[in-house]
Amino acid sequence: MRKNNDHSLTLAQRDHLAIWHPDTQMLTEPLPIPIVKGKGSLLIGEDGTEYIDGISSWWTNIHGHGHPYLAQKIFEQAQQLEHCIFAGLTHPPAVELAERLLQILPSAQSRIFFSDNGSTAVEVGLKMAIQYWFNQGIHKNKILAFRHGYHGDTFGSMSVSARSVFTMPFQQYLFEVDYIDIPVPDGIGGGVFNSPEKCRGDMPDNNYYEAIKEKISSGEYAAFIFEPLILGAGGMLMYPPAALERLIKICRENNLLIITDEVMTGFGRTGKRFAMEYLQVQPDIICLSKGLTGGTMALGVTSCVQKVYDAFLSEDKLKTFLHGHSFTANPIACSAALASLDLFMENTCMENIHRIVEQHAAFIKEIKDNPAIKNARQTGTIMAFEIITQQQDSYMNPLRYFLSEFFFRRHIVLRPLGNTIYLLPPYCTSNTELRTIYDAITFLLENVTRQSFYSEERHNKH
Ligand SMILES: Cc1ncc(COP(=O)(O)O)c(C=O)c1O
Repeated sequence: MRKNNDHSLTLAQRDHLAIWHPDTQMLTEPLPIPIVKGKGSLLIGEDGTEYIDGISSWWTNIHGHGHPYLAQKIFEQAQQLEHCIFAGLTHPPAVELAERLLQILPSAQSRIFFSDNGSTAVEVGLKMAIQYWFNQGIHKNKILAFRHGYHGDTFGSMSVSARSVFTMPFQQYLFEVDYIDIPVPDGIGGGVFNSPEKCRGDMPDNNYYEAIKEKISSGEYAAFIFEPLILGAGGMLMYPPAALERLIKICRENNLLIITDEVMTGFGRTGKRFAMEYLQVQPDIICLSKGLTGGTMALGVTSCVQKVYDAFLSEDKLKTFLHGHSFTANPIACSAALASLDLFMENTCMENIHRIVEQHAAFIKEIKDNPAIKNARQTGTIMAFEIITQQQDSYMNPLRYFLSEFFFRRHIVLRPLGNTIYLLPPYCTSNTELRTIYDAITFLLENVTRQSFYSEERHNKH
């Protein structure tokens, strides 16, 4: 029998013998591409090929790969204190990070709770909200969420996500959630084209709000959880801030806690520091991860307002928030987040964000009337559109595999959501690199309706 560490095999082959990859059909999908280095917006393969990371490595990387400042700060912290239990002990990076986050988060957030990733940040948010009511002896047993939302892969975060291919085998184990459409006229959100400020007119009618008001007036709802302005894994579905604002006001009037999941949208993605900055009303709980450490270390954060925190203060030990992960507030991860914040607060970071916003907007103008696509849209540094196919627009649309391969062959990492192509680049991505991606897309759109294109592509070596 072949041993797993047989070095006569390629890294990809050894990987295939030992590793089970996320969101990957291991029987049919091609072997993974070995990456040995990262530099700026580039991922560099073991054969020296440079790939432009068009999706910030699952939406995490905001300042580019291999950033020397982030590397230095991580190195320094690793030498000083790599980890310590966070119940009963504390350390400087956690305290400083909490203080600095509270300064820049949308107003009124007063406490930071640490965890490990986006799903756990959401779990914590949900558990805080549910126990907030429990501790006050108020019985509420329902959660309101968007129909096409995605909040993670753990059971609580799956429960509040769309019932979809991601959750199908687990359906009977998930707690019930009441779903509402996102607030756009067609309930789908593929048609919003423009920056969040400019799509204020694109609102649903009064019936939409009246139906929700009636639904939640029963008093049974503990919280409303949502991805602000854009539903990511659900298909990059976009909706306007004014519509969300009205929805939140209705939820507030009916005593729901407001949980905003900024795991994807946080740290500049939508063109402001946080998506909730487009609104006047503010949330009770905010979930963050991904860009928090600039994409270097696993860290999750859930912040809350004072009234949520206060509901857990008691002589009664049963009112404690009994939740904690081994790596809660890991000092190296906190230091990485502090260093990432340093870079994020520099003017050049926001300038780069605005530059990408403008580049995307100009490119959308170029392609929006192309008959091969629909719903070219943008929220900040994220742009998306659907390739028109005979099949349903969905994550399972078979075009997905062809599209991923098409871009890999052109040394671009994109991972389309079915037939939805989207860009979500690190902020250091240059205009030239963006142009390389745009040109590949333009070439695709010029050819995608030709049947022979698919076989030509498969035989083509780039
Ligand atoms: C909005 C949102 N929430 C939560 C998550 C889950 O984050 P993680 O993959 O770090 O568990 C994701 C991941 O894509 C996300 O986009």
